[in-house]
Amino acid sequence: MTQEHRQKAEFDTRAIHAGYEPDPTTGAVIPPIYATSTYKQDGVGGLRGGYEYSRSANPTRTALEGALAALEEGERGFAFASGLAAEDTILRALTSPGDHVVVPDDAYGGTFRLFEKVEKRWGLENTPVAVSDLDATRAAIRPGTTRMVWVETPTNPLLNIADIEALASVAHESGALLVVDNTFASPYLQQPLILGADIVVHSTTKYVGGHSDVVGGAVVVRDLDLAEAITFHQNAMGAVPGPFDCFLTHRGLKTLGVRMDRHCDNAERVVEFLAEHPKAGHIYFPGLPAHPGHVVAARQMRRFGGMVSFRHADGEQAAVETCARTEVFTLGESLGGVESLIEHPGRMTHMSVAGTDLEVPADLIRLSVGIESIDDLLADLDRALS
Ligand SMILES: Cc1ncc(COP(=O)(O)O)c(C=O)c1O
Repeated sequence: MTQEHRQKAEFDTRAIHAGYEPDPTTGAVIPPIYATSTYKQDGVGGLRGGYEYSRSANPTRTALEGALAALEEGERGFAFASGLAAEDTILRALTSPGDHVVVPDDAYGGTFRLFEKVEKRWGLENTPVAVSDLDATRAAIRPGTTRMVWVETPTNPLLNIADIEALASVAHESGALLVVDNTFASPYLQQPLILGADIVVHSTTKYVGGHSDVVGGAVVVRDLDLAEAITFHQNAMGAVPGPFDCFLTHRGLKTLGVRMDRHCDNAERVVEFLAEHPKAGHIYFPGLPAHPGHVVAARQMRRFGGMVSFRHADGEQAAVETCARTEVFTLGESLGGVESLIEHPGRMTHMSVAGTDLEVPADLIRLSVGIESIDDLLADLDRALS
């Protein structure tokens, strides 16, 4: 496929082909795992293909980074050792002590912990705000000091929706960058750079990797000045993934579209089931017409994703017990893998935000709906709730 062809190719074709040409030596159709830390030079400074040392670049990582950039419609992709490593790298690459960032008031707990307990000590201030509220977001911006408006959409675990296009305008009015954590949607369902965002960040541990077998992160940008700053810091800070991790993440990425469609099908069926179940209280799912972000989600997402949260009608203890009773849904943190997971955010993923403005309801259950047979998933939930 020529370069031009590849750019125009549909998502699933790009997922399989972008970022890599079959190896010129062997014809290997899949990027080999280059388990090497260093590269022989043809004379001092005579690098072959630019490879010098694997913290700076490694061919297995290059292939993944190219594929990530292509799927997010960006110019440059960067792979990291984890989602939080990706976040820390862009924060330290693009902000300085005394700067300020607007953050979602229901961000992933680990992201909030990074802002509050780590970056703050280095002088980066943050203001949590409901980023679905444009006026509140605009009011939280400190002109001249706010460098970034940071959003997740859908959010973890309440599945709130932020209007990416509108927030890009709000951020840009004040000279701030819009950063979108696209972990929950994945590039198959939503491409924030097309909607005006400046930076996309991912925990590739989730849908991108897709098989719960590797931890990783990613950043994708269009602007080449941003790319240069991130390239420098990726190498200077060194939070890079190894070649085996890159191989696994890239293997997962190739089937992203197929998996996401099945995640979405199953999640929609789970929501229909919960809507009729007497033990299910409020359901958080952007595909529901009553969801406050439904119209925006329908505009900016291809479908509504595989995450569903709901409140147990009988309160916190019943929610905790339900999480412990499922057999097909595995009780565990994380999300986005082929297997269905269930968790109690208040006592698990979001324990780090207990007692803060970001605290989640105590009776909340979060489901990462996998791609198993839907009848088995519904029977399991029915048993656990009853
Ligand atoms: C939305 C979101 N962003 C970022 C992260 C952090 O990613 P990682 O666990 O790969 O460091 C997570 C992890 O759960 C997440 O859910």
